[in-house]
Amino acid sequence: MNIKNIADNTYLLSVDIDNILFEGLWEMPNGVALNSYIIKGEKTAIIDGVCGWDGIPENLYVLLDELDIDPLSIEYLIINHMEPDHSGWIEDFRKINSNFKIICSEKGKDLLEAFYGNTQEVQCVKDGDTIDLGKGHILTFAEIPNVHWPDTIATLDTSTGVLFTCDAFGAFGKNGKIKFGEELTKKQMIEFDKEAVRYYSNIVAAFSMQTLRAIDKCEKLPVKMIAPGHGLLWNNPETIINLYKDYANYQKGPARREITIIWGSMYGMTEKAVNHIITVLEEDDEDFKYNIHRVPEDSWGTVLASAWVSTGIILAMPTYEYKMFPPMAAVLDELGRKKVQGRKAFRLGSYGWSGGAQKELDEIMDRHRMNWEFIEPVEFKGSPREEDIQLIGDRVKLLVKQVKEAII
Ligand SMILES: Cc1cc2nc3c(=O)[nH]c(=O)nc-3n(C[C@H](O)[C@H](O)[C@H](O)COP(=O)(O)O)c2cc1C
Ligand SMILES: [Fe+2]
Ligand SMILES: [Fe+2]
Repeated sequence: MNIKNIADNTYLLSVDIDNILFEGLWEMPNGVALNSYIIKGEKTAIIDGVCGWDGIPENLYVLLDELDIDPLSIEYLIINHMEPDHSGWIEDFRKINSNFKIICSEKGKDLLEAFYGNTQEVQCVKDGDTIDLGKGHILTFAEIPNVHWPDTIATLDTSTGVLFTCDAFGAFGKNGKIKFGEELTKKQMIEFDKEAVRYYSNIVAAFSMQTLRAIDKCEKLPVKMIAPGHGLLWNNPETIINLYKDYANYQKGPARREITIIWGSMYGMTEKAVNHIITVLEEDDEDFKYNIHRVPEDSWGTVLASAWVSTGIILAMPTYEYKMFPPMAAVLDELGRKKVQGRKAFRLGSYGWSGGAQKELDEIMDRHRMNWEFIEPVEFKGSPREEDIQLIGDRVKLLVKQVKEAII
């Protein structure tokens, strides 16, 4: 738990958590920071809200105590986004303070009612509305719908230039002692990028078009600092804005100079071909990265994070009951839902008597309009023969060439 004075009368309250699946679904090997903010004008406002994952705001009370803030003095709860990771503490807070006003969007109000059967006074805000907290802290709001839910707004303190963006510009990974992105070393920045990509691809990816619209809107505001609900803050907004632009643009491809191999195998037949693919990719002496994930061993979130930044995808799986090896179908379906589109791709795999994996692959691609450009697949009966291995190697080299050509 941590408190930091980030601007005039403005405090970050942050808690690092791990050992949970975000949204009950996404693994976070390096945890996540939940950030909340206090602005003390003549009136005190809290933005979002730090709590444990269970909605019990014990952490928040401890942090308020450390800051010498009486919870009863909080007059405004600004809920930029009503997802329970930011609002789950309201019910509990109501037990000790019944005299506060909730600020949210119109859609947020509807969700507030649905989740918590609200009894508090609510003020719905729209683009450009203002609230004066006193001592110069005039807040204004920008609607940034679907980053990540339809209700989302961002809050700007016009006196300090701090933009509170909730899920937008967030990242996974614990904050620890570091609070600002500018404090990261080059090496730590590489790690941050990995955590941010994991967060973006798992949580925000499906709304990449809306994210680009939100970025456009935020860029027009006089922002001096970005303060998200998860992850590090940024003194130089441009750094995280540019990263987020890249992430959002990866949706339609091309992405980075990377290939992701996703593979599964029951008895090692397909695996033999995968081993050859690794040899081929290792021989590529240029600065070219590949990621490899076996399903079902690697989680959806991990595969998705790699696929999101990869321009090329290799899929290797056998046929299973006239369809595709099931965990591969599940992962691909998830990539489709997150709109991983416009990839250069190649599929291969083993079958016993009928085949059928390809048919299901085509169905998934069509269903989600994924628009992947496939090199002709290589299927082999049982164990791959020397000529199959040769052909697979050639097609992987062709894929590498296509990926390199796609990114100038
Ligand atoms: C449960 C099961 C279901 C299978 N269903 C099919 C099938 O419908 N059509 C087919 O051509 N082969 C089918 N096969 C055969 C596999 O595709 C074949 O054994 C292949 O070589 C497995 O490759 P792997 O060792 O990489 O998993 C099935 C195998 C298993 C174990
Ligand atoms: Fe969210
Ligand atoms: Fe969130």
